[in-house]
Parts: sequence; C-alpha cells; structure tokens
Amino acid sequence: MTDPISSEKHGDVQIIWSDNPPVNALGAAVRQGLVREIEAAEADDSVQAVVIACKGRTFFAGADISEFGKPPVMPWLPDVVDRIENCTKPVVAAIHGTALGGGCEVALGCHYRVAVPSAKLGFPEVNLGLLPGAGGTQRGPRVAGVELALQMATTGKPISASQAHDAGLVDRIIEGDLIEHAVAYADEVKDIRPLPKSSERDDKVTDVDPAIFDEYKKNNAKLFRGDVAPQANLDTIKAATEMPFDKGVMFERQKFMELMAGQQARARQYFFFAERKAAKIDGVDDSVQPRDIKRVGVIGAGTMGGGISMNFLSAGIPVTIVEMNQDALDRGTGIMLKNYQSTAKKGRMTEEQVGQAMGLLKPSLNFDDLSECDLIIEAVYENMDVKKEIFTRLDGIAKDGAILASNTSYLDINEIASVTKRPEDVVGLHFFSPANIMKLLEVVRGDKTADDVLVTAMKLAKTIRKVAVVAGVCYGFIGNRMLIPRQLQAEKLLLEGATPQQVDKVHVEFGMPMGPFQMADLAGVDIGWHRDPERIESIRDALCAIDRWGQKKGAGFYDYDDNRRPSPSEKVQEIIDDFAAKHGVEKREISDQEIIERTLYTMVNEGAKILEEGKAQRASDIDVVWIYGYGWPVYKGGPMYWADSEGLDTIVEGLKRQEERLGDDWSYSQLLLDKAEAGEKFTR
Ligand code: 3HC
Repeated sequence: MTDPISSEKHGDVQIIWSDNPPVNALGAAVRQGLVREIEAAEADDSVQAVVIACKGRTFFAGADISEFGKPPVMPWLPDVVDRIENCTKPVVAAIHGTALGGGCEVALGCHYRVAVPSAKLGFPEVNLGLLPGAGGTQRGPRVAGVELALQMATTGKPISASQAHDAGLVDRIIEGDLIEHAVAYADEVKDIRPLPKSSERDDKVTDVDPAIFDEYKKNNAKLFRGDVAPQANLDTIKAATEMPFDKGVMFERQKFMELMAGQQARARQYFFFAERKAAKIDGVDDSVQPRDIKRVGVIGAGTMGGGISMNFLSAGIPVTIVEMNQDALDRGTGIMLKNYQSTAKKGRMTEEQVGQAMGLLKPSLNFDDLSECDLIIEAVYENMDVKKEIFTRLDGIAKDGAILASNTSYLDINEIASVTKRPEDVVGLHFFSPANIMKLLEVVRGDKTADDVLVTAMKLAKTIRKVAVVAGVCYGFIGNRMLIPRQLQAEKLLLEGATPQQVDKVHVEFGMPMGPFQMADLAGVDIGWHRDPERIESIRDALCAIDRWGQKKGAGFYDYDDNRRPSPSEKVQEIIDDFAAKHGVEKREISDQEIIERTLYTMVNEGAKILEEGKAQRASDIDVVWIYGYGWPVYKGGPMYWADSEGLDTIVEGLKRQEERLGDDWSYSQLLLDKAEAGEKFTR
C-alpha cells in the first residue's frame, strides 16, 4: 500500500499532504503518517510553520468507519490531534470539501484554520450513534461556543464555511488558490507565540446558562426520542462547561466507548454502508454510461407531479409539466410556488432562488411539448387503463432515447411497458409523498428495462438528493408491499380487542414516527377504497362509508380538532364493536408483544419473501426503503437488520405463536424459515 501522507516544502512552510481517496478518512496509515510528518517538521530547523491539506475531493471526512469494531491500531485519533496541537510550530488546516467528525477535530487541533467558501464543517458522529471522540466535544464549544457545538453535534448537520468563520471555527475564508493562500497565511502567523491552542482557550466554558441544555432538549424533543447518541453528545458538551479540558476529554472518551459498544451505534454504522450499497446495481457493469438528461417532463400537476417537478427544478434541471386543463395546471404550479415561498420564508432559500427554480418550469396543456424531454415521468392517479393510454400516446411523441417513467406505487411496470415499442426505455420511479421532501426513490426495474436507463435513474437520484433503491416488479414493490400485512393485522387486532391508540402507541414507542392508524388518517383512509358505501367488508370500508376519510375530513380512525390534533373516537369504537359482533370475533386483552409480533414480525416475513423472489437486491436495501420511506428508527437499523438482532428464530417462534390468528392468506417465507433454522442472518 502506498503511504497516504507526504510532505512538501514551500520556503519555510512545510505542507503535509494526505492523499487517501475517496474521502481522506483518517485510517491507521493516515494517523501514523500525520504524527511522523509533524515530528519531522518540528525537528527540521528550516521549517517555521506547517500546513495540513488534503488531495482529492475533500479534507478529512472523519475516522475510517470501516475500522470500527476491529482491533485498534495505534496511534489513536485523540493522540494524533493532541500531537498536532502540541507541535511547537504553528499548524494551519487548509480545508476544502468537508471537514467532518475526526476531520473537524484534526482541524481544531491545528492552531489555525483556513477554508474555501464551499467548505463545510461538521460533527456527523451522532449519525453513526457516536459523539466526536477526539476532543471535539471539548475543543468545539471552547472555539465555536456551546450553542453551535451543541447543535452541530446533536443534529450531525454540517455548517458552511461562512457560518464557521462567523463562529470563529475558521480564521480566514480563502478566495482563490487554497494552498497558495494557506502557505501565505502560515507565513503571516509563523512568529506568533504563544500558539493558540483550542484546548487552552478556557479552563472551562463559562458564561453559559446551564438551563440552555434542558431547553435545547425540550425544543428538540424529536431528536432525542429513543436515541441515546444525541443525549450523550449533549452530556459531553455540557461537561465542557463544568470541568477543565483534561477531565472533559476523559469524560468524552468514556461516553464514546459506551456508545461504541452499544446496539444503536452498530445499527447506525450498518446503515451508513447499507445506504451506500443501495446505489449499486447488481449485474450492471460499471462501464455502462448514463443517458444525458437535460429536460424532464412530468405528466400531472397534482400533489405528486408538483412535488416530483420541484426536485428537478431545485437541482437546476428544466421541467415541462403537462396537465389536461388550465385550472388544474394553475392550481398545481400555484402550490409549487407557495411551497417554494414557504421554504424561503424559513430562510432555507432566497427569493432569487425561488425565481430561478420557477423560471425553469414550463407549464403546458399540450402533450406534444413532451417531445423535447429526455425523461418523462407520468404522475397521474393509479389506474392501469389510464396509464396504458398515456404510455401509448407517449410512445408516439417522446424522442428516441427518452426514458419513460411511471410514478406508480403498486402497478405492474411490465404491463405498462408492453404498450410501447420501447419497453427497454421504461422504468418505475416511485417517489414518496411529499415528493419534494421524502428522501426515498424506488427505482422499479422492469423485465426489459435497459441497464443504461437504470444507471441514469440512480445517477439522477443523487443529483436530486434522493436515496434510490432498485426494486423488482411486484404489487407495492418493496415498501408498500410490506405495509400490506402490517395493515391487515393491525385491523384484525382492532376486532380482537386492541384500540387504534394502543396499536399506534406500540409503534411509536418502538420508534416509528407514527402508528398504522395515524398513518392511514394522514395518507387518507379512502386510498384504494372501492367507493361503494353499501359494500362494507372491513372497518376501513365502514369509516369511508360515513365520510371518515382521515385528517383531510377531520375524522378517520381518530377525531381531529381544528388544529388536526387527534383524540380517540367513540364512534370508531362503536363501528369496531359492531363489526366484531357481526363477524363473531370475541374480544380479549391484547398485549403489546402480540401487536409487535403480528404487525412487525409479519412485515419481516414479507421482506424475506421479497428477498427470496429477488424483488430486492439485498436485505439492506429493504432497510434503506423503510428508514427513508417510512421513518423506521435508524438506530434499529431497518426491519431486516432488526430481525437479525432479535434473532430469526425469535421471529419465527413469534409468528408460530400467532399463526392461528394471522388469517387464511397467511404463509411463511421459506427463506426466513431456512435462515432461522440454520442460525443465519439476512444482513450479516
Ligand atoms: N470512513 C470510511 N469510508 C468512508 C467514510 C469514512 N468516514 N466516509 C465515506 N466513506 C466511503 C463511503 O463508504 C463510500 O464508499 P464506496 O464508494 O465504497 O461506497 C465512499 O467513501 C464515498 O462516500 P459517499 O458515497 O458518501 O460520497 P459523497 O461524496 O456522497 O459524500 C461525505 C462524502 C460527505 C464525506 C460522506 O461520505 C460522509 O458523510 N461520510 C461520513 C462522514 C462521517 O460520518 N464522519 C465521522 C466519522 S466518525 C469519527 O470521525 C469519529 C471521531 O470523532 C473519533
């Protein structure tokens, strides 16, 4: 292996280079090289100052996550940071790209920091179930202040170079050549003594009202729910206000080790790699080139069509949006503008950017305008005949090589493709609602979908900041297919004696953002309803028949007040009781464990079927779908990882316990049974 660390002299300034693609992670060789070169610079009388810089796309993006869980190799990162800080000559960090986690801590160990305007600094360790463990929780608040450090460490969100500059984390923003200016900066500061050390700024951070920690937690309750890492980050940053640096770093180390040994960190670190693996398409050669997408067409300016369009507009890609009549078109584009404006009001976009995005939109009533598009996404309502008619028309209009996509959530992409003369150009692009916000994109691979169409879809997903997962053609693809047994069992449980509140509570306590009935009320109880009020075959039918369609009607499984606050509904309980009596279902006490087994274990079983049928490429892709599409708690790693952690034999035992209640359509996944029997796992 070539040495990732090298040195180069510029007059009396020594540049220590790291060249460790792809992201200059601080693996063992990098840590060893940094210490070696700092010591060499210190020993060299001709060197007056040092610059630490990185080649490639970024400054150090943190500790090397692939080393976690393996036997440690010295030196530790905290010792490397200390060694840099204790260098007797000034050290300047020259930052481009992202100085994240351990990378930000290396920068804080340097006496000075300069950065290009596009650089970002952050503590994303919380996303890995950790905290900054190389002195960051102690140096961070001493340099940037407690509030900013707290926010950075508990949310994991990076800040811009200019924000970092305002906070004192960056000493100078460099316009122009970073290295040239960093060397000049080092030359400017080379004689200043004593050297400014972050660890020595204050004995402890004072002037902080201790109440801010509780207040922060109260204002960000969602962040802390069920998740241990944000609390540990808060505790260690608080320690910087209570104890001197040396004690603070000892506390940090202890908390870091505790987190590292925990289940949640393991789940999050699994998920870090799962997310990146999802971008890889089995059986498609790396040499396959994506098609060029200069303009996107969207058919339908409803909620989905509008949201989908916004993704491309925000990424600077022009969109032609087509509707049947002027009213629908105006309504749709009006909502898009309103959404952009509300983002601007929150300060997350400028008015100018709103203008730019909307300026890229071409609303049209003329289907023929789609002929100029390289990708056309159909986003009309779920009806196979309508979709087939649209794709037949599109086939006659779209230019050669254009990709024809459907945003269907359930329907058969192969059947849709079959009406065209170019099924190889047809793909499913299943966006999740609200499409401009939700990170997940299911890319549905039809039997004939061309490799370069898939590659284009995956690349485009990255451009519009989505996480894409490849799914095979089946009813509901990955995510919605797994919802089916969950919903079925949840409704059965109501008849047997559970309440919507109890079922939802179990799911929320598990870590889901909402339970099955809260979700039904939000999405619309009437979705997929046959629209015949006389035909009542389920509780859902009974609710729809009396207009209880969910939040939009002020009533669904729950009653809602004017502020959409839910409360349990007597009427719904009556309906449930009547329905149960009519069908001779006896009521009994339902335990929370039974709810878990019937709603979550059955989902795992469905996930296993998806896997054995080859409708998902790998178990971790299913986890990515559930975390980004449905808010499965990331610290539990997704349904398949969670099932592995519980033990697949435990899942099978639970299902067997419930077998008689699961209904006539119930069947086991053979893969689940086989793996449980063999003591194997899905994800490891
Ligand atoms: N360690 C090991 N590998 C890493 C890595 C890391 N810290 N960061 C990224 N990679 C790998 C990815 O797995 C991926 O590998 P692949 O190509 O084989 O799939 C490759 O680098 C490129 O990563 P991305 O696809 O994510 O590239 P992007 O350009 O989209 O994003 C990034 C770059 C913003 C740096 C993003 O990779 C990222 O956020 N990385 C993680 C940063 C992080 O969490 N740092 C903290 C680490 S923990 C720590 O530092 C502890 C310390 O406090 C003691």
